[in-house]
Amino acid sequence: MTKRILQWWQSGIIYHIYPRSFQDGNGDGIGDLTGIISRLDYLSHTLGIDALWLSPIYPSPMADFGYDIADYRDVDPIFGALDTFDLLVREAHQRNLKVIIDYVPNHTSDQHKWFGESRSSRTAAKRNWYVWADPQEDGTPPNNWLSVFGGPAWSWDAATEQYYLHSFLSSMPDLNWRNPAVQHAMFEVVRFWLDRGVDGLRIDTAHYIMKDHAMRDNPSNQIVHTTFHKSFGAYDTQLHLYDKGDADVHNVFRDLRHLLDSYGQEQPRIALGEIHIFDVPTWASYYGEQLDELHMPCNFGLLNTPWQAQAIRQAVDTLESTIPACAWPNYVLGNHDEHRIATRIGAAQARVGMLLLLTLRGTPTLYYGDELGMENVPIAPEHERDPWGIHMPGLGLGRDPERTPMQWEASPHAGFCHAEVAPWLPVAANATTMNVATQLEDPQSFLSLTRKLIDLRRSSLALSGGSYRALESTSTNCFVYMRETADERWIVALNTGTQDQILNVTCAGDASIILSTYLDRQEHVDLATLALRGNEGGLIQLT
Ligand code: NOJ
Repeated sequence: MTKRILQWWQSGIIYHIYPRSFQDGNGDGIGDLTGIISRLDYLSHTLGIDALWLSPIYPSPMADFGYDIADYRDVDPIFGALDTFDLLVREAHQRNLKVIIDYVPNHTSDQHKWFGESRSSRTAAKRNWYVWADPQEDGTPPNNWLSVFGGPAWSWDAATEQYYLHSFLSSMPDLNWRNPAVQHAMFEVVRFWLDRGVDGLRIDTAHYIMKDHAMRDNPSNQIVHTTFHKSFGAYDTQLHLYDKGDADVHNVFRDLRHLLDSYGQEQPRIALGEIHIFDVPTWASYYGEQLDELHMPCNFGLLNTPWQAQAIRQAVDTLESTIPACAWPNYVLGNHDEHRIATRIGAAQARVGMLLLLTLRGTPTLYYGDELGMENVPIAPEHERDPWGIHMPGLGLGRDPERTPMQWEASPHAGFCHAEVAPWLPVAANATTMNVATQLEDPQSFLSLTRKLIDLRRSSLALSGGSYRALESTSTNCFVYMRETADERWIVALNTGTQDQILNVTCAGDASIILSTYLDRQEHVDLATLALRGNEGGLIQLT
């Protein structure tokens, strides 16, 4: 049973903002920092989250909407300026909100001055800041590595007659982290932002930074995916053994942790890592053997799990039994790279998903708009903006549908931007009814559910930090678990099916259902005979 005091990143809820899409503050149809500042009261008071994570806000040609960075030490004018960022940090901190920024170490934009210098000649001082290699004898790329966004991971530079590596777009060259000068420069970037008061980093494609020293070919992949895992087309034909995740990456993360820890332990600065690895022990190794690497590798396990009670239970139990002792779990049900949870599993089950996310043991990350049940917005191919969808058509990889403007109110463009400007992506047709203002008025709305759950989690040590254990139910459509401390016991029961289910759980104590995902009942219950309706989740207190 957990008794220790949790730190902010363990007890708190992280809210992920895609800055282009949250709130336009300057009338150009694109979200910005001023817009985010104007919504901080919503985040801290109305919703009650603890930390914001902002997708990249750096100067960028926006080939990958900010993940292609041209300057690590500034803010793109689309989003504001450094002093707007400083104001955001101050205003957030005044409201007890932490600020986590996206840190993108694997690649820069080809417009970054480092790359300009690097590609200027083979003898340039910064040549080895990126990964350059000679062609094979027949002129083809140095090895078989592929870009996630389609085609080879190598592009030919005619001027200097070598290939450079890019794990994503050809305009996003990979930095060479085996060069100590790169590590030094990138750690100085970290200091730059920590000194401005930033509380944490979400490290983009964190394990990609270290590749095989010998740059061996990847072997072909014979494994047929049987889960919800997305198909990445040709990229899936290889086992990505050598183009990312080399064991040397752990040295970098140990050094980074050391840097973060040097800012003190009272209000720790944290590192979350985007580690898309679905082998749980390998993924868990990013906590570090001595818990001295990432505070939390982001756990995408539930995105890759069929929405079925026993599969979800297995994913959670596997995580709980695999992570090192004292490592802190975390869960994600949506982000800017994944189709909206309400679209993936349906509106009714999305409410069950919210109960799950906010009652599991571990830090939840909530994607903006998921608190309302926002859905994917269909984007016609001719209006597609996302390079992934454009470069690899027909695979459903485009990410525009989950990046559409936040739905604030029933007014034109849902209050995201002025009526007379066009938002950068279309606002959902259902925004006239599915929006913050409307849902705040409706005691049974999705937002009311999210707010109640956040409130319960914040006020209960058992829900925010208590132990977790799965309970046996005779219904295979139900996932039932206990969250408890010495003083409090809660049972969470999720029916992932559409039919009524009798839980038939054996547990001593007096049970009351405190919250149903339908927000229509609070009553004493008998756990042996309790029935959950189709698509219902229940939060039950035991006394
Ligand atoms: C992962 C990010 O989440 C995604 O949005 C981006 O396109 C790639 N990394 C490349 O930076």
